[in-house]
Amino acid sequence: MHKIVIVGAGRVGEAAAHNLAKAELAREIVLIDVKDGVPQGVALDIQESAPIFGFDTKLTGHTDLAALKDADLVIVTAGIPRAPGMSRSDVLDTNLAVVYGVVDKMLVLAPDAMLLMVTNPVDVLTYAAWKRTGWDRRRVFGMAGVLDSARMASFVALETGFSAKDITAMVLGGHGDAMVPMPRFTTIHGISIEHFLPQDKIASIIQRTRDGGAEILGLRKTASAYDTPAAAIARMVDAISCDRRQILPGVAALDGEYGERDICMGVPIVLGEQGMERVIELPLTAEEQGQFKKSVASVRADIARLKQ
Ligand code: LAC
Repeated sequence: MHKIVIVGAGRVGEAAAHNLAKAELAREIVLIDVKDGVPQGVALDIQESAPIFGFDTKLTGHTDLAALKDADLVIVTAGIPRAPGMSRSDVLDTNLAVVYGVVDKMLVLAPDAMLLMVTNPVDVLTYAAWKRTGWDRRRVFGMAGVLDSARMASFVALETGFSAKDITAMVLGGHGDAMVPMPRFTTIHGISIEHFLPQDKIASIIQRTRDGGAEILGLRKTASAYDTPAAAIARMVDAISCDRRQILPGVAALDGEYGERDICMGVPIVLGEQGMERVIELPLTAEEQGQFKKSVASVRADIARLKQ
């Protein structure tokens, strides 16, 4: 890719920019933030690590959304974060205004771009952004499942002592308390975790995954997680930039898959240079289906708030 624009130079935006630059996933990375000096300072700080890490990506920082011009990919991390005790939905109203501001500029300045939403509540804001663009669903998607499944895989690695490199986890549904971690599709080198862990351990891993964002926030108190969110962004951008056609969990607009439409939710998707190439529909058990529908209901409740 030639130009990636990251809107929001907070911790997630900064760490994502550094990951993308180190991996040279674009020739140019632009950071935009409303706080004058911050995006410029972040861009320069990362740029100065180029001789050490050995990358030629150019970074610049701006306060004006005019810098969206001709972006190939726009990543939106801007918005207010959750404070302890707040749900992801509590921040909806403020962040919706930010997202609409960015989308409206993109429609004029970067009409051929793809949009990767990160700001919470991510399922609802991906939906709002997708509707506002009127674009094909392949071009608007969100990051949550790669983060949630990395957390789940990490907890499996910690519990079993096996290499984290061999563990793949799958988390479906909205990025909220009703997310659906899928032990049946979580494996250690292809072997189901049910072979290694008793049901009570699996149940506690599922709960810890659901609470993963809150656990970090509770420990840090004034900041949400950013290292793993930024790593998850880089994983998704790598799949697009290198046209890997990788299966990753991501937030996508559903068009009949899982019996749903007119909603954005976490599902396995195929990511490549065209963006979200397709949704993979997994056969769900009655129990999984019930959990998925509960998560759908919670995302739909927030979408209904958008329409008020
Ligand atoms: C998390 C928040 C930021 O999961 O959504 O860490």
